[in-house]
Amino acid sequence: MAYQNIETSEKEGIFYITINREDKLNALNIQTLSEIKSAVLSIYENAGICGVILTGKGTKAFAAGADIAEFAGFNNVQGTQMSADGHAVFKAIENCPKPVIAAIYGFALGGGCELAMACHIRIAGEKAKFGQPEVNLGIIPGYAGTQRLPQLIGKGRALEYLLTGDIMDAQTAYQFGLVNRVVTTEEVMSTCEALLQKIKTKAPLAVASVIRCVNDFYEKKADGAQTEIH
Ligand code: COA
Repeated sequence: MAYQNIETSEKEGIFYITINREDKLNALNIQTLSEIKSAVLSIYENAGICGVILTGKGTKAFAAGADIAEFAGFNNVQGTQMSADGHAVFKAIENCPKPVIAAIYGFALGGGCELAMACHIRIAGEKAKFGQPEVNLGIIPGYAGTQRLPQLIGKGRALEYLLTGDIMDAQTAYQFGLVNRVVTTEEVMSTCEALLQKIKTKAPLAVASVIRCVNDFYEKKADGAQTEIH
């Protein structure tokens, strides 16, 4: 399928999605988010794909947030729609039956941090930077940053970053549990690939079921133990 703002490719059972707006630090406009959703949904039932690596073009940014230029003039109705549509994209990632790994070089801010948090695993390069700076713009994170950041790093730490808009370096992100690993810039992609090649050796049904059980607790506030039984 032809996309405008993302690139997709496939190699050895891994599906790669690269946000391709490097000159805008891979800012997530509505078109880009829609394409990411479409790309992720396209491999849900593809038995030849063991997992997804989601990244941004270049090393300066994974994604520097929602596209400020696009939403700056939005009214309430448009803003509400933008948030609802974004949630649907991020849920499509979170509920993907195959693991989605975020390969993060550079800035993962605002919607970019939220996009990374919707992925199942995050691998950061040493120069990656994280944050929810929306408060600096007089708005709140609209793609579940207020929900997923506390889940990953705890309520107190999350509130500090959500309320100050401060930027977190990669080591701090690792120390707080926001990312699974910090590696050199050169090692980011190979680390993601090695993880997926390991997961590829496991039963796909088991992999999908683990994701569903964990999500049932964190996402639906349901009893994930019941999901395990059923
Ligand atoms: N939305 C739209 N465009 C963005 C963007 C965003 N979130 N983040 C960066 N860009 C664009 C800039 O407007 C600029 O475009 P231009 O060259 O056409 O003017 C280009 O990307 C490069 O960004 P620039 O600000 O010049 O790079 P920098 O190295 O000086 O600063 C950042 C990098 C990340 C600190 C800075 O771009 C920034 O603060 N971005 C916004 C982060 C944010 O608030 N995200 C949450 C949005 S809700």
